[in-house]
Amino acid sequence: MVDSFYTIPGAPFLAHLSDLHNRDYRPVEKSLLRHRPELICVTGDIIVGAMPEGDVSPLATQPNALALLKACASIAPTYVSLGNHEWMLDQKDLDDMRATGAVVLDNTWIEHDGLVIGGLTSGHVMRHRRALSNLSEEERGAHRYLRGRGVAGIVKTAAELLMESLPDDDWLMSFASTPGYHILLSHHPEYRRLIPKEVELILSGHAHGGQWRFFGRGVYAPGQGVWPKLTKGIYDGRQVVSAGLCNTAPAPRFFNPTQVVYVRS
Ligand SMILES: [Fe+2]
Repeated sequence: MVDSFYTIPGAPFLAHLSDLHNRDYRPVEKSLLRHRPELICVTGDIIVGAMPEGDVSPLATQPNALALLKACASIAPTYVSLGNHEWMLDQKDLDDMRATGAVVLDNTWIEHDGLVIGGLTSGHVMRHRRALSNLSEEERGAHRYLRGRGVAGIVKTAAELLMESLPDDDWLMSFASTPGYHILLSHHPEYRRLIPKEVELILSGHAHGGQWRFFGRGVYAPGQGVWPKLTKGIYDGRQVVSAGLCNTAPAPRFFNPTQVVYVRS
């Protein structure tokens, strides 16, 4: 794991963490304690989004996720947005995340010392919520989490999947018109086309650096396909994409170390 420093004029000194996927959080904590950023932005995928085991929360079975948030919140103000792997988390789970001291930004924003910080929730989370809201009480059952089927089991067609995977971007114009320096936590880098130009800094992950990197370029990223454009580094002078803190693919990473990203002016 490497510490990477990126310069964006006007940005506060912040740490950008993405894609922990329940791996050991302590190397990340050590990095944060070494560099002491003014704020910490966690852009989702703190867990691995498998089906919950019965009614037990994934946050209980994957303890590094809440431990990371707690460690972050003890170091600096911490803001979190939701990635695709958080698709099944319910409101109690989000409350448990907030209990660590971190601020969960679920399609909303807050103002903090001249900063306007927003969190754009993954469309995969929204798809699951929309699908759940369409189920009858009988279909939903009395269980906390759906049993034996994920989103793919309750959304029927490819077209439906595509439509239902869109994020909720209705609030972005209000966010962007709020006075201040705008930081948007958007797990998916490919959502950039939805983000108003007034947003000075976009923080993203999800691409895992493109899995393998050759000649400074990633090979594959979910949501972008082969030879993806947005995998690691600064794009358009305002988007910082992290290669992530770990990997979910069974294939190893080549020439693509995991990274703790720091942004500064
Ligand atoms: Fe992701």
